[in-house]
Amino acid sequence: MIQTSWSAPSNIALIKYWGKHGIQLPNNPSISFTLDKSRTHTHVKYEPGASALDLQFLFEGKENIEFAKRTISFLNSINRELPFLQTGKLYIESSNTFPHSTGIASSASAMATLALCLCEIHQKVTDSYSDKIAFLKHASHIARLGSGSACRSIYPYLAQWGQTDSIPSSSDEFAIPVSDVHVDFTTYLDAILIIDSDEKKVSSSAGHQLMEKNPLAEIRYKQAHTNLAELLIALKTGDLDTFIEIVELEALMLHALMMTSQPSYILIRPNTLQGIEKIQLFRQETKIPVCFTLDAGPNIHLLYPKKYQTEVEAFISQQLIMLCEDERVIFDCCGEGPISL
Ligand code: PMV
Repeated sequence: MIQTSWSAPSNIALIKYWGKHGIQLPNNPSISFTLDKSRTHTHVKYEPGASALDLQFLFEGKENIEFAKRTISFLNSINRELPFLQTGKLYIESSNTFPHSTGIASSASAMATLALCLCEIHQKVTDSYSDKIAFLKHASHIARLGSGSACRSIYPYLAQWGQTDSIPSSSDEFAIPVSDVHVDFTTYLDAILIIDSDEKKVSSSAGHQLMEKNPLAEIRYKQAHTNLAELLIALKTGDLDTFIEIVELEALMLHALMMTSQPSYILIRPNTLQGIEKIQLFRQETKIPVCFTLDAGPNIHLLYPKKYQTEVEAFISQQLIMLCEDERVIFDCCGEGPISL
């Protein structure tokens, strides 16, 4: 029997991936902060055997038939790349460090941990990776096949995914680490303001699909390359004004794309807008470089350098917490990425 355990964090995109083709291939490049506290822990046991793959899946300690069904079809789709998955018994146990009903997408951290566990078993069976870089690259590729943005959760601090001229080693197939960054960006803080924890009305996969007929699609894909090139320079030089301008523009563009899809839909809530206005006003008045980004949902990720932690936490408790459902805020930060347990 082979056993392996990994923990991997979620990530929050600064340049958004929105629109895909083929098998989870992005229509534009993206870049994200790797989070630290919002994580999935996964333990996998594999017993070789002759008959077709048999899977048992426990989520948060309970058997979960729905997750098991989705996982088995994912495992079948990758069993040419990881041939040990064609036969034997697989036992997967997974849990999240963040509560299920927060509106935080768990697919990125879940698929990243599962990919790391599977690639480690593959390594133990075939010894096929020449080094850690090759292992991580393949794990990122496998994670991508499970859930696009999961491929970025493999690396510490910042990760980039999707072919773009400004990074010669970039690829649509897997993410790569972004290491040439100002030290302040490796300790960035992210307070996740839970505006509404309801399950979203339109899934990410439906949203990606609606980009196929979105009249703004081509302009958007072009803009993502430009924004990414400019953001890379800002990350390197520590240019916070440019960082803030691009990050907020990307968040609003993501939601503008949803509003201009056919059928159109709106995922932000009145409190999301109020929060955004308060954040921009606070920044204007105090000159504290705090900004927001949004995922495909109503919750606000408030991003700020660590040195402003005290002032920003006071701002949250005085002006933002009342906009959150049950006053829920998850204090996360940029982190070191996956850990082998
Ligand atoms: O990985 P998916 O298919 O759940 O898509 C994620 C899309 C966004 O979170 C909205 C943006 C991103 O780049 O993570």
